[in-house]
Amino acid sequence: MCYKNSFCRLYFKFGKEDLMSDKTKSRGQFTSSLGFILAAAGSAIGLGNIWKFPYVAGKNGGGVFLIFYVLFLLILGLPLIMSEMALGRKTSLNAIGTFEKINKKWKFVGFIGVVCSFIILSYYSVIGGWVTKYIFSYFTNANVAAPGYFDNFIANPVEPAVWHVLFMAFCCFVVCFGVAKGIEKASKIMLPILFILIIAVVIRSLLLPNSIKGLEFLFVPNFKEINSFPKFANVITSAMAQVFFSLSLGMGITITYGSYLNKNSNIQKDSVVILGLDTLIALLAGSAILPAVFSFGESPTEGPGLIFNTLPKIFDKMPLGNLFGALFFILIFFAAATSAIALLEVVTAVFIDNFGWSRTKAAVIMASLMAAIGVFASLSFSPVLSGIKIGGKNIFDALSFLTDNILMPLAGLLTCIFVGHIWGIDNASSEIECGSGKFRIRKIYSVIMKYIAPVLILIIFIMGFVSI
Ligand code: TRP
Repeated sequence: MCYKNSFCRLYFKFGKEDLMSDKTKSRGQFTSSLGFILAAAGSAIGLGNIWKFPYVAGKNGGGVFLIFYVLFLLILGLPLIMSEMALGRKTSLNAIGTFEKINKKWKFVGFIGVVCSFIILSYYSVIGGWVTKYIFSYFTNANVAAPGYFDNFIANPVEPAVWHVLFMAFCCFVVCFGVAKGIEKASKIMLPILFILIIAVVIRSLLLPNSIKGLEFLFVPNFKEINSFPKFANVITSAMAQVFFSLSLGMGITITYGSYLNKNSNIQKDSVVILGLDTLIALLAGSAILPAVFSFGESPTEGPGLIFNTLPKIFDKMPLGNLFGALFFILIFFAAATSAIALLEVVTAVFIDNFGWSRTKAAVIMASLMAAIGVFASLSFSPVLSGIKIGGKNIFDALSFLTDNILMPLAGLLTCIFVGHIWGIDNASSEIECGSGKFRIRKIYSVIMKYIAPVLILIIFIMGFVSI
Protein backbone atom coordinates (compact mmCIF):
# COMPACT_ATOMS: atom_id res chain seq x y z
CA MET A 1 0.00 0.00 0.00
CA CYS A 2 1.38 3.42 -0.83
CA TYR A 3 1.40 6.15 1.78
CA LYS A 4 3.54 8.62 -0.15
CA ASN A 5 0.65 10.70 -1.18
CA SER A 6 -0.73 12.77 1.66
CA PHE A 7 -4.37 12.41 0.70
CA CYS A 8 -3.88 8.70 0.48
CA ARG A 9 -2.42 8.66 4.00
CA LEU A 10 -5.28 10.70 5.41
CA TYR A 11 -7.75 8.59 3.54
CA PHE A 12 -6.65 5.38 5.13
CA LYS A 13 -6.51 7.05 8.54
CA PHE A 14 -9.97 8.55 8.55
CA GLY A 15 -11.88 6.46 6.06
CA LYS A 16 -13.67 7.63 2.98
CA GLU A 17 -16.82 9.16 4.43
CA ASP A 18 -14.96 11.75 6.52
CA LEU A 19 -12.87 12.94 3.62
CA MET A 20 -15.54 12.94 1.00
CA SER A 21 -16.64 16.48 0.37
CA ASP A 22 -20.27 17.39 -0.24
CA LYS A 23 -19.34 17.98 -3.84
CA THR A 24 -18.04 14.43 -4.23
CA LYS A 25 -21.17 13.09 -2.62
CA SER A 26 -23.38 15.01 -5.02
CA ARG A 27 -21.33 14.00 -8.08
CA GLY A 28 -21.73 10.34 -7.21
CA GLN A 29 -19.31 7.48 -6.83
CA PHE A 30 -19.07 3.86 -7.88
CA THR A 31 -20.18 1.63 -5.05
CA SER A 32 -17.78 -1.23 -5.68
CA SER A 33 -14.64 -2.03 -7.55
CA LEU A 34 -16.52 -4.59 -9.64
CA GLY A 35 -19.10 -1.94 -10.49
CA PHE A 36 -16.37 0.40 -11.68
CA ILE A 37 -14.63 -2.30 -13.71
CA LEU A 38 -17.89 -3.30 -15.39
CA ALA A 39 -18.83 0.30 -16.11
CA ALA A 40 -15.37 1.18 -17.45
CA ALA A 41 -15.17 -2.05 -19.45
CA GLY A 42 -18.70 -1.36 -20.66
CA SER A 43 -17.59 2.04 -21.91
CA ALA A 44 -14.65 0.51 -23.74
CA ILE A 45 -16.50 -2.50 -25.11
CA GLY A 46 -18.80 -1.22 -27.78
CA LEU A 47 -19.52 -1.02 -31.46
CA GLY A 48 -15.76 -0.57 -31.83
CA ASN A 49 -15.17 -4.16 -30.75
CA ILE A 50 -18.05 -5.91 -32.41
CA TRP A 51 -18.92 -3.85 -35.45
CA LYS A 52 -15.60 -2.19 -36.28
CA PHE A 53 -12.82 -4.55 -35.19
CA PRO A 54 -13.76 -7.51 -37.45
CA TYR A 55 -14.13 -5.40 -40.59
CA VAL A 56 -11.09 -3.21 -39.94
CA ALA A 57 -9.06 -6.38 -39.32
CA GLY A 58 -10.62 -7.85 -42.46
CA LYS A 59 -9.61 -4.87 -44.58
CA ASN A 60 -6.07 -4.78 -43.21
CA GLY A 61 -4.91 -8.32 -43.66
CA GLY A 62 -6.28 -10.04 -40.53
CA GLY A 63 -3.32 -11.42 -38.59
CA VAL A 64 -0.94 -8.64 -39.67
CA PHE A 65 -3.34 -6.08 -38.29
CA LEU A 66 -3.62 -8.06 -35.08
CA ILE A 67 0.15 -7.92 -34.46
CA PHE A 68 0.17 -4.12 -34.63
CA TYR A 69 -3.05 -3.92 -32.65
CA VAL A 70 -1.55 -5.87 -29.75
CA LEU A 71 1.69 -3.91 -29.98
CA PHE A 72 -0.13 -0.58 -29.71
CA LEU A 73 -2.32 -1.91 -26.91
CA LEU A 74 0.79 -2.51 -24.85
CA ILE A 75 2.82 0.58 -25.69
CA LEU A 76 0.04 3.11 -25.99
CA GLY A 77 -3.14 1.61 -24.54
CA LEU A 78 -1.95 0.47 -21.15
CA PRO A 79 0.13 3.51 -20.13
CA LEU A 80 -2.58 5.91 -21.33
CA ILE A 81 -5.47 4.16 -19.65
CA MET A 82 -3.55 4.11 -16.34
CA SER A 83 -2.63 7.77 -16.70
CA GLU A 84 -6.19 8.85 -17.44
CA MET A 85 -7.57 6.85 -14.53
CA ALA A 86 -4.95 8.36 -12.21
CA LEU A 87 -5.68 11.88 -13.46
CA GLY A 88 -9.41 11.54 -12.81
CA ARG A 89 -9.03 9.96 -9.40
CA LYS A 90 -6.46 12.56 -8.38
CA THR A 91 -8.73 15.52 -9.05
CA SER A 92 -12.23 14.03 -8.68
CA LEU A 93 -13.26 16.27 -11.56
CA ASN A 94 -14.54 15.91 -15.11
CA ALA A 95 -12.12 15.88 -18.05
CA ILE A 96 -11.91 19.66 -18.48
CA GLY A 97 -11.72 20.39 -14.76
CA THR A 98 -8.97 17.82 -14.33
CA PHE A 99 -6.57 19.45 -16.78
CA GLU A 100 -7.51 22.91 -15.53
CA LYS A 101 -6.83 22.04 -11.90
CA ILE A 102 -3.34 20.78 -12.64
CA ASN A 103 -2.38 23.47 -15.14
CA LYS A 104 -4.82 26.12 -16.37
CA LYS A 105 -3.19 26.40 -19.79
CA TRP A 106 -3.92 22.76 -20.55
CA LYS A 107 -7.65 23.00 -20.02
CA PHE A 108 -8.11 22.85 -23.80
CA VAL A 109 -6.97 19.20 -23.88
CA GLY A 110 -9.92 18.19 -21.74
CA PHE A 111 -12.05 20.37 -23.96
CA ILE A 112 -10.92 18.48 -27.08
CA GLY A 113 -11.82 15.23 -25.34
CA VAL A 114 -15.30 16.41 -24.42
CA VAL A 115 -15.96 17.79 -27.91
CA CYS A 116 -14.74 14.49 -29.31
CA SER A 117 -17.17 12.53 -27.11
CA PHE A 118 -19.96 14.86 -28.16
CA ILE A 119 -19.29 14.32 -31.87
CA ILE A 120 -18.80 10.56 -31.50
CA LEU A 121 -22.08 10.05 -29.70
CA SER A 122 -23.96 11.97 -32.36
CA TYR A 123 -23.02 9.44 -35.03
CA TYR A 124 -22.50 6.44 -32.74
CA SER A 125 -26.13 6.63 -31.78
CA VAL A 126 -27.10 6.34 -35.46
CA ILE A 127 -25.51 2.87 -35.55
CA GLY A 128 -27.11 2.17 -32.16
CA GLY A 129 -30.44 2.95 -33.85
CA TRP A 130 -29.70 0.52 -36.69
CA VAL A 131 -28.93 -2.20 -34.16
CA THR A 132 -32.18 -1.52 -32.30
CA LYS A 133 -34.11 -1.69 -35.55
CA TYR A 134 -32.53 -5.08 -36.36
CA ILE A 135 -33.56 -6.50 -32.98
CA PHE A 136 -37.08 -5.32 -33.66
CA SER A 137 -36.95 -6.85 -37.15
CA TYR A 138 -35.85 -10.23 -35.82
CA PHE A 139 -38.63 -10.23 -33.25
CA THR A 140 -41.26 -9.31 -35.82
CA ASN A 141 -39.92 -11.93 -38.25
CA ALA A 142 -39.10 -9.39 -40.95
CA ASN A 143 -36.99 -10.79 -43.76
CA VAL A 144 -33.73 -9.18 -42.69
CA ALA A 145 -31.77 -11.31 -45.16
CA ALA A 146 -33.71 -10.07 -48.20
CA PRO A 147 -31.52 -8.44 -50.83
CA GLY A 148 -31.36 -4.70 -50.36
CA TYR A 149 -32.92 -4.77 -46.87
CA PHE A 150 -30.09 -2.84 -45.25
CA ASP A 151 -29.51 -0.45 -48.16
CA ASN A 152 -33.19 0.41 -48.37
CA PHE A 153 -33.43 0.89 -44.62
CA ILE A 154 -30.53 3.35 -44.34
CA ALA A 155 -31.62 5.19 -47.47
CA ASN A 156 -34.99 5.91 -45.85
CA PRO A 157 -34.84 9.50 -44.54
CA VAL A 158 -37.18 9.01 -41.56
CA GLU A 159 -36.98 5.52 -40.10
CA PRO A 160 -33.27 5.29 -39.18
CA ALA A 161 -33.44 8.78 -37.65
CA VAL A 162 -36.38 7.71 -35.46
CA TRP A 163 -34.47 4.63 -34.20
CA HIS A 164 -31.44 6.83 -33.57
CA VAL A 165 -33.49 9.20 -31.41
CA LEU A 166 -35.02 6.27 -29.50
CA PHE A 167 -31.57 4.84 -28.82
CA MET A 168 -30.34 8.22 -27.57
CA ALA A 169 -33.43 8.57 -25.36
CA PHE A 170 -32.70 5.21 -23.74
CA CYS A 171 -29.11 6.24 -22.93
CA CYS A 172 -30.29 9.56 -21.57
CA PHE A 173 -32.76 7.76 -19.32
CA VAL A 174 -29.97 5.69 -17.75
CA VAL A 175 -27.63 8.65 -17.29
CA CYS A 176 -30.39 10.59 -15.50
CA PHE A 177 -30.33 7.96 -12.77
CA GLY A 178 -26.75 8.87 -11.88
CA VAL A 179 -23.49 7.04 -11.46
CA ALA A 180 -24.38 4.27 -9.01
CA LYS A 181 -28.09 3.75 -9.72
CA GLY A 182 -27.93 4.36 -13.47
CA ILE A 183 -24.56 3.67 -15.06
CA GLU A 184 -23.22 1.10 -12.60
CA LYS A 185 -26.47 -0.81 -12.38
CA ALA A 186 -27.03 -0.87 -16.15
CA SER A 187 -23.46 -2.12 -16.71
CA LYS A 188 -23.84 -4.83 -14.07
CA ILE A 189 -26.85 -6.17 -15.91
CA MET A 190 -25.82 -5.67 -19.53
CA LEU A 191 -22.16 -6.71 -19.51
CA PRO A 192 -22.51 -10.22 -18.06
CA ILE A 193 -25.38 -10.95 -20.49
CA LEU A 194 -23.20 -9.68 -23.32
CA PHE A 195 -20.45 -12.14 -22.34
CA ILE A 196 -22.78 -15.11 -22.27
CA LEU A 197 -24.37 -14.18 -25.59
CA ILE A 198 -21.10 -13.64 -27.41
CA ILE A 199 -19.77 -16.99 -26.24
CA ALA A 200 -22.94 -18.67 -27.49
CA VAL A 201 -22.57 -17.01 -30.89
CA VAL A 202 -18.85 -17.91 -31.11
CA ILE A 203 -19.63 -21.57 -30.41
CA ARG A 204 -22.37 -21.55 -33.05
CA SER A 205 -20.04 -19.97 -35.56
CA LEU A 206 -17.15 -22.35 -34.89
CA LEU A 207 -19.43 -25.34 -35.44
CA LEU A 208 -20.02 -24.26 -39.06
CA PRO A 209 -18.11 -26.11 -41.79
CA ASN A 210 -14.77 -24.57 -42.75
CA SER A 211 -14.92 -22.14 -39.85
CA ILE A 212 -11.20 -22.68 -39.24
CA LYS A 213 -10.43 -20.52 -42.29
CA GLY A 214 -11.88 -17.52 -40.49
CA LEU A 215 -9.74 -18.14 -37.44
CA GLU A 216 -6.66 -18.53 -39.63
CA PHE A 217 -7.45 -15.24 -41.29
CA LEU A 218 -7.73 -13.47 -37.95
CA PHE A 219 -4.83 -15.05 -36.13
CA VAL A 220 -2.25 -16.05 -38.78
CA PRO A 221 -0.41 -13.06 -40.24
CA ASN A 222 -0.19 -13.00 -44.01
CA PHE A 223 2.39 -10.41 -45.01
CA LYS A 224 1.99 -11.05 -48.73
CA GLU A 225 -1.03 -8.77 -48.94
CA ILE A 226 0.75 -5.83 -47.39
CA ASN A 227 2.92 -5.21 -50.40
CA SER A 228 3.14 -1.45 -50.71
CA PHE A 229 3.95 1.46 -48.45
CA PRO A 230 0.46 3.00 -48.50
CA LYS A 231 -1.04 -0.37 -47.54
CA PHE A 232 1.48 -0.82 -44.74
CA ALA A 233 0.88 2.74 -43.54
CA ASN A 234 -2.82 2.04 -43.59
CA VAL A 235 -2.47 -1.09 -41.44
CA ILE A 236 -0.44 0.80 -38.85
CA THR A 237 -2.69 3.85 -38.80
CA SER A 238 -5.82 1.74 -38.58
CA ALA A 239 -4.38 -0.36 -35.76
CA MET A 240 -3.55 2.72 -33.73
CA ALA A 241 -6.87 4.39 -34.44
CA GLN A 242 -8.63 1.17 -33.43
CA VAL A 243 -6.71 0.97 -30.11
CA PHE A 244 -7.66 4.56 -29.35
CA PHE A 245 -11.28 4.09 -30.31
CA SER A 246 -11.76 0.75 -28.65
CA LEU A 247 -10.23 1.78 -25.33
CA SER A 248 -11.91 5.20 -25.60
CA LEU A 249 -8.57 6.89 -25.08
CA GLY A 250 -7.91 10.59 -25.22
CA MET A 251 -11.46 11.76 -24.75
CA GLY A 252 -12.00 12.06 -21.10
CA ILE A 253 -14.02 8.96 -20.38
CA THR A 254 -11.44 7.21 -18.24
CA ILE A 255 -10.72 10.52 -16.53
CA THR A 256 -14.42 11.01 -15.82
CA TYR A 257 -15.02 7.46 -14.55
CA GLY A 258 -11.71 7.61 -12.63
CA SER A 259 -13.05 10.70 -10.88
CA TYR A 260 -15.82 8.57 -9.34
CA LEU A 261 -13.28 6.17 -7.83
CA ASN A 262 -12.19 6.17 -4.27
CA LYS A 263 -8.57 6.15 -3.20
CA ASN A 264 -8.27 2.51 -2.33
CA SER A 265 -9.14 1.34 -5.82
CA ASN A 266 -6.32 -0.46 -7.58
CA ILE A 267 -5.47 1.47 -10.74
CA GLN A 268 -2.85 -0.98 -11.99
CA LYS A 269 -5.04 -4.02 -11.70
CA ASP A 270 -8.19 -2.28 -12.95
CA SER A 271 -6.43 -0.96 -16.07
CA VAL A 272 -5.10 -4.38 -17.00
CA VAL A 273 -8.50 -6.00 -16.43
CA ILE A 274 -10.35 -3.38 -18.51
CA LEU A 275 -7.82 -3.61 -21.34
CA GLY A 276 -7.95 -7.41 -21.18
CA LEU A 277 -11.75 -7.55 -21.27
CA ASP A 278 -11.92 -5.11 -24.15
CA THR A 279 -9.41 -7.12 -26.18
CA LEU A 280 -11.09 -10.40 -25.30
CA ILE A 281 -14.43 -9.16 -26.60
CA ALA A 282 -12.85 -7.85 -29.82
CA LEU A 283 -11.21 -11.24 -30.40
CA LEU A 284 -14.41 -13.09 -29.56
CA ALA A 285 -16.35 -10.86 -31.96
CA GLY A 286 -13.76 -11.59 -34.65
CA SER A 287 -14.03 -15.31 -33.84
CA ALA A 288 -17.81 -15.14 -34.12
CA ILE A 289 -18.00 -13.14 -37.33
CA LEU A 290 -15.03 -14.12 -39.49
CA PRO A 291 -15.49 -17.94 -39.33
CA ALA A 292 -19.14 -17.50 -40.31
CA VAL A 293 -18.17 -15.16 -43.15
CA PHE A 294 -15.57 -17.62 -44.50
CA SER A 295 -17.81 -20.61 -44.00
CA PHE A 296 -20.41 -19.08 -46.31
CA GLY A 297 -17.87 -17.87 -48.84
CA GLU A 298 -18.55 -14.18 -48.16
CA SER A 299 -15.89 -11.47 -48.16
CA PRO A 300 -14.46 -10.26 -44.82
CA THR A 301 -13.62 -6.86 -46.23
CA GLU A 302 -17.12 -5.69 -46.82
CA GLY A 303 -16.65 -2.76 -44.46
CA PRO A 304 -19.21 -1.13 -42.19
CA GLY A 305 -22.03 -3.18 -43.72
CA LEU A 306 -20.40 -6.44 -42.62
CA ILE A 307 -22.69 -7.06 -39.67
CA PHE A 308 -25.81 -5.52 -41.14
CA ASN A 309 -25.56 -6.91 -44.65
CA THR A 310 -23.46 -10.05 -44.65
CA LEU A 311 -24.35 -11.53 -41.28
CA PRO A 312 -28.15 -11.59 -41.65
CA LYS A 313 -27.67 -13.54 -44.91
CA ILE A 314 -25.50 -16.00 -43.02
CA PHE A 315 -27.92 -16.31 -40.10
CA ASP A 316 -30.67 -16.94 -42.62
CA LYS A 317 -28.81 -19.95 -44.00
CA MET A 318 -27.88 -21.59 -40.70
CA PRO A 319 -30.08 -23.80 -38.50
CA LEU A 320 -31.53 -21.77 -35.63
CA GLY A 321 -30.22 -18.75 -37.50
CA ASN A 322 -33.07 -16.43 -36.53
CA LEU A 323 -32.55 -17.11 -32.86
CA PHE A 324 -28.82 -16.47 -33.13
CA GLY A 325 -29.45 -13.40 -35.26
CA ALA A 326 -31.69 -11.93 -32.58
CA LEU A 327 -29.23 -12.81 -29.80
CA PHE A 328 -26.37 -11.33 -31.78
CA PHE A 329 -28.08 -7.98 -32.26
CA ILE A 330 -29.16 -7.89 -28.61
CA LEU A 331 -25.55 -8.33 -27.57
CA ILE A 332 -24.43 -5.55 -29.90
CA PHE A 333 -27.17 -3.35 -28.45
CA PHE A 334 -25.81 -3.88 -24.92
CA ALA A 335 -22.28 -3.16 -26.09
CA ALA A 336 -23.36 -0.01 -27.90
CA ALA A 337 -25.60 1.22 -25.08
CA THR A 338 -22.99 0.94 -22.31
CA SER A 339 -20.56 2.92 -24.48
CA ALA A 340 -23.11 5.51 -25.50
CA ILE A 341 -24.07 5.99 -21.84
CA ALA A 342 -20.40 6.64 -21.06
CA LEU A 343 -20.08 9.12 -23.90
CA LEU A 344 -23.10 11.01 -22.65
CA GLU A 345 -21.73 10.96 -19.11
CA VAL A 346 -18.48 12.65 -20.20
CA VAL A 347 -20.43 15.61 -21.54
CA THR A 348 -23.04 15.60 -18.76
CA ALA A 349 -20.37 15.67 -16.03
CA VAL A 350 -18.93 18.90 -17.42
CA PHE A 351 -22.26 20.69 -17.17
CA ILE A 352 -22.91 19.36 -13.67
CA ASP A 353 -19.47 20.35 -12.34
CA ASN A 354 -18.79 23.57 -14.21
CA PHE A 355 -22.21 25.07 -14.70
CA GLY A 356 -24.01 23.71 -11.67
CA TRP A 357 -26.77 22.15 -13.79
CA SER A 358 -28.79 19.30 -12.38
CA ARG A 359 -27.96 15.87 -13.79
CA THR A 360 -31.32 15.56 -15.53
CA LYS A 361 -31.10 18.99 -17.14
CA ALA A 362 -27.52 18.39 -18.34
CA ALA A 363 -28.24 14.91 -19.70
CA VAL A 364 -31.49 15.84 -21.46
CA ILE A 365 -30.16 19.02 -23.08
CA MET A 366 -26.92 17.42 -24.25
CA ALA A 367 -28.61 14.25 -25.51
CA SER A 368 -31.09 16.38 -27.48
CA LEU A 369 -28.31 18.39 -29.09
CA MET A 370 -26.38 15.28 -30.05
CA ALA A 371 -29.51 13.61 -31.34
CA ALA A 372 -30.14 16.65 -33.54
CA ILE A 373 -26.64 16.51 -35.05
CA GLY A 374 -26.96 12.75 -35.41
CA VAL A 375 -30.04 13.23 -37.59
CA PHE A 376 -27.74 14.85 -40.19
CA ALA A 377 -25.36 11.89 -39.95
CA SER A 378 -28.30 9.55 -40.38
CA LEU A 379 -29.62 11.51 -43.37
CA SER A 380 -26.23 11.36 -45.05
CA PHE A 381 -27.08 7.77 -46.04
CA SER A 382 -30.32 8.87 -47.66
CA PRO A 383 -30.67 10.75 -50.95
CA VAL A 384 -31.66 13.84 -48.92
CA LEU A 385 -28.11 14.58 -47.79
CA SER A 386 -25.95 11.94 -49.46
CA GLY A 387 -24.86 14.52 -52.02
CA ILE A 388 -23.18 16.66 -49.37
CA LYS A 389 -19.50 15.77 -49.23
CA ILE A 390 -16.85 17.12 -46.93
CA GLY A 391 -13.40 16.25 -48.26
CA GLY A 392 -14.96 13.53 -50.40
CA LYS A 393 -16.77 11.95 -47.45
CA ASN A 394 -20.43 12.02 -46.50
CA ILE A 395 -21.38 13.69 -43.20
CA PHE A 396 -21.24 10.44 -41.23
CA ASP A 397 -17.80 9.47 -42.54
CA ALA A 398 -16.49 13.00 -42.15
CA LEU A 399 -17.54 13.11 -38.48
CA SER A 400 -15.98 9.74 -37.84
CA PHE A 401 -12.76 10.74 -39.66
CA LEU A 402 -12.57 13.94 -37.63
CA THR A 403 -12.83 12.09 -34.32
CA ASP A 404 -10.96 8.84 -35.05
CA ASN A 405 -8.11 10.17 -37.13
CA ILE A 406 -7.68 13.70 -35.88
CA LEU A 407 -9.18 14.58 -32.50
CA MET A 408 -8.52 11.31 -30.64
CA PRO A 409 -4.84 10.94 -31.59
CA LEU A 410 -4.37 14.67 -30.98
CA ALA A 411 -5.90 14.47 -27.49
CA GLY A 412 -3.90 11.27 -26.85
CA LEU A 413 -0.68 12.96 -27.91
CA LEU A 414 -1.36 15.99 -25.71
CA THR A 415 -2.34 13.77 -22.76
CA CYS A 416 1.01 11.96 -23.01
CA ILE A 417 2.92 15.25 -23.10
CA PHE A 418 0.83 16.57 -20.24
CA VAL A 419 1.37 13.54 -18.01
CA GLY A 420 5.03 13.11 -18.98
CA HIS A 421 6.15 16.71 -18.80
CA ILE A 422 3.59 18.88 -17.00
CA TRP A 423 1.91 16.81 -14.29
CA GLY A 424 5.09 14.74 -14.15
CA ILE A 425 5.87 11.06 -13.88
CA ASP A 426 6.43 11.33 -10.12
CA ASN A 427 2.94 12.63 -9.50
CA ALA A 428 1.39 10.17 -11.91
CA SER A 429 3.28 7.24 -10.39
CA SER A 430 2.40 8.07 -6.83
CA GLU A 431 -1.29 8.34 -7.77
CA ILE A 432 -1.04 5.03 -9.61
CA GLU A 433 0.65 3.43 -6.59
CA CYS A 434 -1.90 4.75 -4.16
CA GLY A 435 -4.19 1.83 -3.42
CA SER A 436 -2.29 -0.60 -5.61
CA GLY A 437 1.25 -0.97 -4.31
CA LYS A 438 4.59 -0.71 -6.05
CA PHE A 439 4.47 0.40 -9.67
CA ARG A 440 6.81 -2.15 -11.15
CA ILE A 441 6.86 -0.86 -14.70
CA ARG A 442 7.48 2.73 -13.63
CA LYS A 443 10.72 3.12 -15.62
CA ILE A 444 9.25 1.84 -18.86
CA TYR A 445 6.09 3.85 -18.22
CA SER A 446 8.15 6.99 -17.80
CA VAL A 447 10.09 6.51 -21.06
CA ILE A 448 6.90 5.67 -22.93
CA MET A 449 4.87 8.60 -21.66
CA LYS A 450 7.65 11.14 -22.07
CA TYR A 451 9.15 10.12 -25.40
CA ILE A 452 7.99 6.94 -27.14
CA ALA A 453 4.23 7.48 -27.13
CA PRO A 454 4.26 11.15 -28.24
CA VAL A 455 6.70 10.46 -31.08
CA LEU A 456 4.86 7.33 -32.17
CA ILE A 457 1.45 9.00 -32.14
CA LEU A 458 2.85 11.95 -34.08
CA ILE A 459 4.43 9.74 -36.76
CA ILE A 460 1.30 7.66 -37.19
CA PHE A 461 -0.86 10.76 -37.16
CA ILE A 462 1.13 12.15 -40.11
CA MET A 463 1.19 8.78 -41.86
CA GLY A 464 -2.59 8.74 -41.64
CA PHE A 465 -2.72 11.80 -43.88
CA VAL A 466 -0.10 10.50 -46.31
CA SER A 467 -1.94 7.22 -46.78
CA ILE A 468 -5.37 8.64 -47.63
N1 TRP B 1 -14.79 2.45 -27.06
C1 TRP B 1 -16.08 2.48 -27.63
C2 TRP B 1 -16.23 1.31 -28.57
O1 TRP B 1 -15.37 0.49 -28.70
C3 TRP B 1 -16.36 3.74 -28.39
C4 TRP B 1 -15.92 4.97 -27.75
C5 TRP B 1 -15.05 5.82 -28.27
C6 TRP B 1 -16.32 5.47 -26.51
N2 TRP B 1 -14.86 6.84 -27.40
C7 TRP B 1 -15.62 6.66 -26.32
C8 TRP B 1 -17.17 5.04 -25.53
C9 TRP B 1 -15.75 7.41 -25.16
C10 TRP B 1 -17.31 5.77 -24.39
C11 TRP B 1 -16.61 6.94 -24.20
O2 TRP B 1 -17.22 1.21 -29.21
